[in-house]
Amino acid sequence: MTAPVVLVAYASRNGGTAEIARWIGDALEQEGAGVDVLPAAGVRDLHGYTAVVLGSGLYAGHWLREAVRFARRHRKALGSIPVWLFSSGPLDASAAERELPPQPGVRRIADGIDAVEHETFGGRLEPGARGLVARMILSQGKGGDFRDRDQVTAWARRIAATAAVVRPQRI
Ligand SMILES: Cc1cc2nc3c(=O)[nH]c(=O)nc-3n(C[C@H](O)[C@H](O)[C@H](O)COP(=O)(O)O)c2cc1C
Repeated sequence: MTAPVVLVAYASRNGGTAEIARWIGDALEQEGAGVDVLPAAGVRDLHGYTAVVLGSGLYAGHWLREAVRFARRHRKALGSIPVWLFSSGPLDASAAERELPPQPGVRRIADGIDAVEHETFGGRLEPGARGLVARMILSQGKGGDFRDRDQVTAWARRIAATAAVVRPQRI
C-alpha cells in the first residue's frame, strides 16, 4: 500500500497559472490527498505519483512549450495513471460562465494521454506582464484578473472525489 500523491504540474509565463496550480493543490490537500505542485519543466519523472493535474497559460491558442514538452516527455507514464488538464486564458468572464472546450492543440494532447477531463479557467493579465503584446493588450484596457478561485476549487474537489487520488492504492 502506498499513499497517493498527486502531482500538479504547470507552465506559466506571468504567474497566473502558477497560482491556479497552488489553489488546486490546496483544495486537493484539504480533501486528504498528498500533493506536489511543481513547474512542469522541473519534473524529471513521475515515479510515486498516483495522479497528475497538468495546466498551462494559453498564448495565441497554444499551451506554453514547457507543458507541451511535459506531456510528450512523460507520455507513457501519463497513459497509465489518471490525468486532468486545465488551461488558463480568457481575459473575460466566459470561462466562469460556461464550459469552454480545449484549444485544438490541447485537445490533441488530451487525446494522446487519454486524459480524464480538461477544464478552462479565466486568465490574468496585469501590469508588469512580460512581452510587447501583453503590454499592448494592457494599454487597450483589456487586462484584469478573470480567474475564479471557487471554480478552480470546485474542479479540484471533483478530482479528489476520484478513488485513485485520495485513497491508498492496493498494487
Ligand atoms: C501575448 C498573449 C497571448 C494570449 N493568447 C491567449 C489566447 O490565445 N487565448 C486565451 O484564452 N488567452 C490568451 N492570453 C491570456 C493569457 O492566457 C492569460 O493572461 C493567462 O492568465 C496567462 O497565464 P500565465 O500568467 O500563467 O502566464 C494571452 C495573453 C498574452 C499576453
